[in-house]
Amino acid sequence: MGRTPAHTGVIMTEITPVLTANIEPGRAPLDCAGYERAGGYAAVRKALGEMSPDQLLDLVKESNLRGRGGAGFPTGMKWGFVPQGDDSPNPKYLIANGDEMEPGTFKDRLLIHGDPHQIVEGMILSAYAVRAPVGYIFLRPEYERGADLLHHAIAEAEAAGYLGKNILGSGFDLELHPHVSAGRYICGEETALMNALEGRRPNPRSRPPYPAISGLFGKPTIVQNIETLSCVPHIVNNGAKWFRRLGLGDDAGTKLYCVSGKVKRPGIYELPIGVTLRELVFEHCGGMLDGLEFKAAIPGGAATMLMTPEELDTRLDFTSLDKAKNRLGTAGVIVIDDHTCIVGISLNLQSFFARESCGWCTPCRDGISWIVDILRDLEEGRGEPGDAELLMREMKMIGPNAFCALAMGAEGPMVSALEKFPEEFETHISGGGCPYERPPALPPQSN
Ligand SMILES: Cc1cc2nc3c(=O)[nH]c(=O)nc-3n(C[C@H](O)[C@H](O)[C@H](O)COP(=O)(O)O)c2cc1C
Ligand code: SF4
Repeated sequence: MGRTPAHTGVIMTEITPVLTANIEPGRAPLDCAGYERAGGYAAVRKALGEMSPDQLLDLVKESNLRGRGGAGFPTGMKWGFVPQGDDSPNPKYLIANGDEMEPGTFKDRLLIHGDPHQIVEGMILSAYAVRAPVGYIFLRPEYERGADLLHHAIAEAEAAGYLGKNILGSGFDLELHPHVSAGRYICGEETALMNALEGRRPNPRSRPPYPAISGLFGKPTIVQNIETLSCVPHIVNNGAKWFRRLGLGDDAGTKLYCVSGKVKRPGIYELPIGVTLRELVFEHCGGMLDGLEFKAAIPGGAATMLMTPEELDTRLDFTSLDKAKNRLGTAGVIVIDDHTCIVGISLNLQSFFARESCGWCTPCRDGISWIVDILRDLEEGRGEPGDAELLMREMKMIGPNAFCALAMGAEGPMVSALEKFPEEFETHISGGGCPYERPPALPPQSN
């Protein structure tokens, strides 16, 4: 077993940590000098000294890095969409997405609080590759301390010559600005995020045009998750092949898996991407708390599909979960035990989506609230025969007819709950309400 930093709750296991290598229990993050001593900013020296932006872009393409913010889009391919050349629009922008309001997801927080210089370095490299002279770091409001740490890291990097004009004599200029959000889930959606940054109401924008073509202030913009950006220095230092080989299946790199629910050791685990759900829950997390059985898990935050005990051997990576008609999402794994009601969980999740709907389009604004009403009726004994079919029919209409991915996200856990646990909905109807007792007092736990 590895280290157990008390201040973050992270548990790092056998593999040599990559993204979490500089994160130590109870210790403030490394300052610039400490980060340099640990090998930090070597990638910036290498890339800006020896590589053209196009060579860096090709390296990231070759590494098979896929976005860690939810959609898993290939990072290098996205960078390749940014128009370049003398007649292309300028300036271009880079945005680090640290909104992190997905339920069960708390990995970017660890990177922001634990190693802010790694994010700054990842942003310098990514901005260089897409030739962006300005970058923003968009943070959820609760990450106040993170914003302070990032301001400090940016000032230190400027003083050391890694930010500002003509970085390390390369001719490349970059300024970075942390921005604290007003705090809504929809602000994490990249087009709503850009509206928020511009001071507008954060409704999503229609696409096309895609942000890489016309984004912030109408200019080419790359939005990238904090964890995605943190991978880039390691790819530059160690190569694309090294990064690809870290993965256990078809995907590349390590992954920060956040685990919550009634397992023995919840927390954040940096593991090779592609670990199975079984290994994550029963080896790294030590299994379920005594007296409880594994019933289900949601693999990637609220907006993914429930997995059953029969799916424990599925790899938690983009490719394997796509094949299983699921999604890796944020890899925020929420484990559900046999004392927990699936209808109750569904009510909880749909209440979140209904509350966080931005209200722009009717199917999402009114439809998800209606789903919540039906689920509440089931929980409180007012369910009627046919309610499960009604839920399924309505939910399948909402997602495809709504304007952005928030509503499609709400569909995943609801439809999979109905498909995989139909008996729970039936018992709520036939038994006149929720058959589960409120969570029992847990028996004393062994380690
Ligand atoms: C409702 C909603 C919320 C989102 N929240 C976040 C978030 O907090 N952080 C994030 O990186 N991506 C979030 N995304 C995904 C972003 O739109 C975008 O795909 C991502 O930031 C791109 O970065 P990546 O390619 O590195 O994953 C959200 C998407 C939706 C639909
Ligand atoms: S789907 Fe929901 S969150 Fe997205 S635009 Fe419509 S109302 Fe807003």
